[in-house]
Amino acid sequence: MLTTQALVGPGDRVVAITPLWPNLVEIPKIMGAHVECIELRFGPRGWTLDLDRLIARLTPDTRAVYINSPNNPTGWTLRADEQREILSHCRRQGTWVVADDAYERLYYDGDAAVAPSFLDLSDAEDRIVSTNTFSKSWLMTGWRLGWVVAPAELIPDLAKLLEYNTSCAPVFVQRAGVVAVSQGDAVIAHTLARYRRARDYLVGRLRAMPGIEVFAAPGAMYAFFRVAGVTDSLAFCKALVAEHGLGLAPGIAFGPEGEGFVRWCFASSESRLADGASRLERYLHAGAPTR
Ligand SMILES: Cc1ncc(COP(=O)(O)O)c(C=O)c1O
Repeated sequence: MLTTQALVGPGDRVVAITPLWPNLVEIPKIMGAHVECIELRFGPRGWTLDLDRLIARLTPDTRAVYINSPNNPTGWTLRADEQREILSHCRRQGTWVVADDAYERLYYDGDAAVAPSFLDLSDAEDRIVSTNTFSKSWLMTGWRLGWVVAPAELIPDLAKLLEYNTSCAPVFVQRAGVVAVSQGDAVIAHTLARYRRARDYLVGRLRAMPGIEVFAAPGAMYAFFRVAGVTDSLAFCKALVAEHGLGLAPGIAFGPEGEGFVRWCFASSESRLADGASRLERYLHAGAPTR
């Protein structure tokens, strides 16, 4: 919100890659921007980006592009070569890159354990803002603590906006953040290994269910899967929670291209995932998708 208040005004053009955590599409709209969504595609290799299409839509009048990688809800993750191409295009025309890096430390491909970041490719003056949070990797959801990395020219405005929005994070929460960054590496490594096992277990269970199309995502903590025959994911999820006690997020919450999909957060124990999978099986067996 602070980043958008600093960068975006009425009538500005903003591009976002979707499906996406809805805040990143709605916040620029609150500031009066026009948001164009570039959809990821769901195909035989999972969720992918048509890079040429994105670049073509990053027109010279585009104020900012919002990219969340690894992505909530799909887990899709930008490669470094794709980031390089987006960055050089944005540099040429002065477009800001707003990178929501909330899940960068929840990355399962390769040995790096941290997803490719625009910050690795950028100079101090580049028009890149990386936003981040303690919520995911440090398991501090609800603590309302995060940070931004931004070029020096933006910091005075961000400081004012912070003052006028919340003044500051509470001191005891800041202290918790200091403990998290100074002692949290082992927790992150343990969490990553746990989530990787949880992802593989859940994807295995889902793949065995008829009508479900799912891929193991390279990042984040969700399986975003298609259920054959579902045209109203909200109704599907409401009935699932009401009748079988399993709460999943409807794909439509993440944009129209998410319709027909369901998001399952696998940041959970194997026994809970096993129980949930059995509930979903019973629901599908009872003919849920035709509701
Ligand atoms: C992409 C993304 N960014 C940011 C956040 C928010 O994190 P916080 O708990 O710090 O508000 C989330 C939470 O779901 C998210 O998915």
